[in-house]
Amino acid sequence: MIRYMGTKRFLADPVAQIISDLPPRHASARVVDLFCGTGAATSELDGVASVVMNDASAFLGPLLRSRFVHEERVAPFRLLDQLAPHYEARCKALAVEFDGRLQHERDVLLRRPSDLLAYMEDVPHVGTSDECRRQARLAARRRGPGRYCLTVLYFSGGYFSTWQAVQLDAIRYAIASLDDERSHDQALAAFLGTVDRCLNSPGHSAQFLRPNSEAAQKRIVRVWRRDVWSVFVDTLAEFAPSGSPAWRVQNEFQNGDALDLLPQLKSDQVRAVYADPPYTKDQYSRYYHVHETLFLYDFPDSIGRGRYRAGRFSSKFSESGSVESAFEDLLRGVSELGFPLVLSYPERSLLSRRGTDIRDLATKHFRTIITRSFATKHSTLGASKGASTNDNTEFIHVLTN
Ligand SMILES: C[S@@+](CC[C@H](N)C(=O)[O-])C[C@H]1O[C@@H](n2cnc3c(N)ncnc32)[C@H](O)[C@@H]1O
Repeated sequence: MIRYMGTKRFLADPVAQIISDLPPRHASARVVDLFCGTGAATSELDGVASVVMNDASAFLGPLLRSRFVHEERVAPFRLLDQLAPHYEARCKALAVEFDGRLQHERDVLLRRPSDLLAYMEDVPHVGTSDECRRQARLAARRRGPGRYCLTVLYFSGGYFSTWQAVQLDAIRYAIASLDDERSHDQALAAFLGTVDRCLNSPGHSAQFLRPNSEAAQKRIVRVWRRDVWSVFVDTLAEFAPSGSPAWRVQNEFQNGDALDLLPQLKSDQVRAVYADPPYTKDQYSRYYHVHETLFLYDFPDSIGRGRYRAGRFSSKFSESGSVESAFEDLLRGVSELGFPLVLSYPERSLLSRRGTDIRDLATKHFRTIITRSFATKHSTLGASKGASTNDNTEFIHVLTN
């Protein structure tokens, strides 16, 4: 799928076991995976309950629906047959439109690291260039092929080479020609997997790598030369649904703030809520903004050296000043609805740094708290400052009334 910060695959099995041991409620009651990310916990719930997955990042939708919701996958060769002619036509048109830039970039890749660095610092994009902004405004109003140049205008010469950006826009255009939801989701899932595999970055998109040394330059040149269409074909072929078709068709994905979803849940339809909220100050919307913008394709304003999308989601669970009240709202919201809450949260976290113990907050809202602990290494994908993995103890709290 994609490399994802904070995925806790090692907890998925115990979480599923804990949920299956909870006293049964309504026969068709579902589990709500409230901060589902890439769905590690959901993947273990076939045979236990159907699942409502929720996450604040919209781009996870096609990935999760293709894996956990659609009954069957479409044969990859059928999708490729449909996509290839549109892809080729758009590639040709974009190659002509951005010919000067493509040529210049090919030359720069043969020169010294300092030339590549200078190129990457100066390359025009929507965040820095009036001309790119004008082109983006025009493209945003179009519905046909002319709309599909966003990757070039926003992310080329940084996260991707310009030729890769052309290829990504051409694939995105080809996907828009698919008319059924299942094909669309599956092709978008492979597209997002391709974005992830071709990013010039440490595994997330908070920043792109710069050629500060000869080794870094070599790495960038290698990544920038990766052929996007070949990666897309491989990713499409590898992508497989998870669980049984009968289970999948009962699942769904919702995209929103967990705290807004809670009041919409009906008590007889929920067996348990599983919550795996973020535990650091790293905002996911910063680390995955390229995925989000290439999925939404909505031509946002672009901000700063990281070329972030304006108005990106800010999670209260990742804000020092709001994390306690966010947990209060979560705990109160679930307990008022009468659902059991299975909560995974590590010992060292944003909350603990503020001197607050999650169990003290929980006792205000739940009568019974059972805690299991697991020693672990947390992968940061280079997000939090320091080492790429951190030792930590992960807790699963089972909160009931
Ligand atoms: C620790 S990760 C969850 C990882 C997930 N369990 C997995 O296996 O991939 C936290 C997730 O919560 C999401 N998120 C953060 N704040 C949120 C909020 N207020 N509402 C919904 N989702 C949120 C993030 O986008 C991220 O995917």
